[in-house]
Amino acid sequence: MLSPCLHHALTILEGLDRIVLNSAYLSLSKPYFCGMQILDGKKAAQAIKDELRLDVAQLVAEGKKIPHLAAILVGANGASETYVAAKVKACEEVGFKSTLIRFEETISEGKLLDQINELNSDPDIDGILVQLPLPKHISDEEVINAIDPDKDVDGFHPVNVGKLLQGLPTFVPATPYGIMLLLKHYKIETKGKHAVVVGRSNIVGRPMSVLLSSNGNPGNCTVTICHSHTKNIKEFCLQADIIVAALGKPEFITADMVKEGAVVIDVGITRAEDTTKKSGFKLKGDVAYDEVSPKCAWITPVPGGVGPMTIAALMQNTYHSCLQKN
Ligand code: GUN
Repeated sequence: MLSPCLHHALTILEGLDRIVLNSAYLSLSKPYFCGMQILDGKKAAQAIKDELRLDVAQLVAEGKKIPHLAAILVGANGASETYVAAKVKACEEVGFKSTLIRFEETISEGKLLDQINELNSDPDIDGILVQLPLPKHISDEEVINAIDPDKDVDGFHPVNVGKLLQGLPTFVPATPYGIMLLLKHYKIETKGKHAVVVGRSNIVGRPMSVLLSSNGNPGNCTVTICHSHTKNIKEFCLQADIIVAALGKPEFITADMVKEGAVVIDVGITRAEDTTKKSGFKLKGDVAYDEVSPKCAWITPVPGGVGPMTIAALMQNTYHSCLQKN
């Protein structure tokens, strides 16, 4: 059977009588949304990085300090290794300095805190990120609290979270910031829309809900946060103009949960075994893309959607941190 979109397109080509007949068919039967477009994070991130590269070249020309990001990676988690490598590579692309500091899984919390203090007092370092998750014997909270808020380019320190809540200038966590930049890049109208954020993590869901409800553009949404104790997630999602899926459950959002014409942002990035791939895995989003995408006005792919935007946003934060010192 032809997809409703293809059927509609063929009808247009076949002649006026058929168009009239088929429009009647389309309007009498379940309406299908035929204009799905991709929110291409790779492209948008490239545009942001290209601009940053020019900004850095300007700093160099003026003899000013160039941005320097320090990334700390503890242990050998495959996904974390990939993310940190991508962050270091992005620094190279835009002309930042970067320092990658690696520790064994067994490092003590005290030693890690000592390293953070050293970076805090190094005047050349503009941004510090400690890749999460950390081994169980190390407290995320202690580590995040130890980072100088003025170098906390992840925006996880309570001082920066508080500023975000109050709408003050601060470092915005990279994933939700990247999503806002993506919505802006594609000029997606958000004012007055109902956004449903699925997931309430400190890294994505909570800050995302704050940003989407803030008075700005993008922003000014009415926001619902759903989480593991929400009783009727499907009913909330069906009311959403914008869905941000950030719960970490592969293909959780299915077609029956999505309104025609919705904007769907997929933050999920789970590694699923795939023996046909050289890496041995494929990446799965939190959205069942094949069945959901035909209903959407806009949707992010996985990979190539939110991931590259997260890195571009981190670069933006590091650049702005450097500017404050210049
Ligand atoms: N782990 C998953 N996302 C992030 C992030 O944005 N920053 C850090 N530091 N760790 C993460």
